[in-house]
Amino acid sequence: MRIIKVKNYEEMSKKAADIIAAQILLDPGTVLGLATGSTPIGTYDRLVELNKNGDIDFSRVTTINLDEYCDLEPTHEQSYRYFMNKHLLTRVNINLENTHVPNGKARDTDAECRRYDDLIEKAGGIDLQLLGIGHNGHIGFNEPSDEFVPGTHCVKLTESTINANSRFFNSIDEVPKRAITMGIRAIIQAKRALLIASGEDKKEILKKALFGPVTPQVPASILQLHRDLIVVTPLDI
Ligand code: PGA
Repeated sequence: MRIIKVKNYEEMSKKAADIIAAQILLDPGTVLGLATGSTPIGTYDRLVELNKNGDIDFSRVTTINLDEYCDLEPTHEQSYRYFMNKHLLTRVNINLENTHVPNGKARDTDAECRRYDDLIEKAGGIDLQLLGIGHNGHIGFNEPSDEFVPGTHCVKLTESTINANSRFFNSIDEVPKRAITMGIRAIIQAKRALLIASGEDKKEILKKALFGPVTPQVPASILQLHRDLIVVTPLDI
């Protein structure tokens, strides 16, 4: 594990974007695993800037997102497809057909989960997986539980996640209660994992995840076993 300590959110975003940009330069057909949330917004802004300057080319890049809420239309402002289009995908020269987010509206969620795992496999796995961390230690929507779930699966969101995400909705009742998330296997098999975390409220969980016991009660703790994990954070951990 390599921990890159930075000064602040802005520097974290720049560093993370530079690591992603380097990946695209080395392999223009790279498969990026992407994340949503407040944390990666600065990283995406910086990637857009690098693309506009002509420093990186997304035309052959494939993106595969970690997760999506169930029951929200992709056009819903809080859906993760909408988030990705808004913050990154429609702002760079990527072919939208090569960008993937689970279909939270699929009638048969089991079939959708299988489709997503097939898609990851056919893409040859993920080259670089960008990750945030939830206050409860989740990565993607792999919530604390009694076991690590390997494949893409449907999850019931925990109170903690519903509360954290209610800030984006008019009321807590509007927050979806279920989501589809990539499982632990695709994340761990990614050739490189890039974890970003900022804000004092993430300090304790980040410490626990990186230095505490590896346990499905803290899903991000599995990253300690990753062969190439880079953590970029301004937090004193
Ligand atoms: P945040 O979410 O970036 O909005 O804090 C991170 C996460 O829940 O994975």
